[in-house]
Parts: sequence; structure tokens; C-alpha cells
Amino acid sequence: MLTVLLSAALVAVVSADSIPQFVVPGKCANVLVQNNFDLHQYSGRWYQTSIIDNPYQPFTRCIHSNFENSALDNGFQVTTAGFSSSNEYLRMMGKIYPTKDFPAAHMLVDFPNTIASPFQVIATDYHTYSCVYSCIAFDGYKAEFGFIYSRTPQTSGPATDKCAAVFRANGVNVSAFKSVSHAADCVYRA
Ligand SMILES: *[C@@H]1O[C@H](CO)[C@@H](O)[C@H](O)[C@H]1NC(C)=O
Repeated sequence: MLTVLLSAALVAVVSADSIPQFVVPGKCANVLVQNNFDLHQYSGRWYQTSIIDNPYQPFTRCIHSNFENSALDNGFQVTTAGFSSSNEYLRMMGKIYPTKDFPAAHMLVDFPNTIASPFQVIATDYHTYSCVYSCIAFDGYKAEFGFIYSRTPQTSGPATDKCAAVFRANGVNVSAFKSVSHAADCVYRA
């Protein structure tokens, strides 16, 4: 059911006048997700320190999220914020939650004006890093996104090294990731 929905969404994208740049030929990596995923431990502030370019996020630096577990029975109310390329502080809010179709660490991103996409926590230790893969496949094409989340706002912290190894082990191209700047002028209000 979920796969059907996601494919339908991607068909809409692929059959638009021009294929967006992020839809490329290829297959999604078949990643393994974290066992016994604990939503409560995962909640709180995470900083994106390295990502595959994502057109659904209007910000380029200082990107951070608050995963609030208490607002939903099973899932997160998520606020993500950061600065755009024109230095505006922007914010987006939505939900990320497990579904009955997959293990708990394979969640669904449900944000307004954003394509429904998976949020697969490949690995996390809850207090340092979280390596997230989000890829939609359709008929030989893929829209592939990835996120390295850190509990600290460091562009090159321990999360970066750990997740690079995790992505590599799961067949995800780590060269596609770009680091997210977390400079002294960042503010974190999500
Ligand atoms: C990995 O990503 C880099 C940067 O986007 C790209 O140039 C390269 O072709 C990719 N390699 C594979 C095997 O897809």
C-alpha cells in the first residue's frame, strides 16, 4: 500500500514537463534499518551535518530538527529549520512516523508540500549520530536523499565518520553527500 502511494507520487513527479534534477536513473540501495528502534530515545534536537541535496528543504546551513515524541501516539511532530541561501531563517513542520508496513525504524515523512517519502534510520546510537536514508524508486529511476544527523552542531563531528561508514556498508554512495555549515552565527530555535 505504502509502496503504491510512493510510486504514484513519483509518477506524478517523473511525468511532469521536465524530470527534476534529483530524479536519476538507478536503483535505491537496499538498506537495513536499526533493530528495536526506540522512539523515545530518538526524540529531541538533531543537527543535519551532511546531506544529499534535498529540494524540499529550503535551507542550506544551520539545519536542525526537533523530533517531538509526546505529540503523537506513535511517531514524531518534527520542526526543521535553518538559513536559506539568502540568509532567511526558515522553518517547516510535519510528521514522521512508523507505519504498519515496515519495522519502526522505517518511517514515513508526512510534511505539507513535500513528496511522501521514507525515513529509514539505518543506524543510531541515540546520543551521537543517526544515519537516515530516504529513497523513492520507480521504474528504473530513483529520487535519493540521505541525512547525517548529529546531536551536536559540528560539520565534521563523530556522526560524519560513523555514518559515512554505515552508508558505505549499505551500498549508499557517500560522495553524493555535502556537508552542512554550522558556523558561529547559526541560531537554533526549532
Ligand atoms: C557517487 O556520487 C558522486 C557525486 O554525486 C557521483 O559523481 C558519482 O558518479 C557517484 N557514483 C556512483 C557509483 O553512482
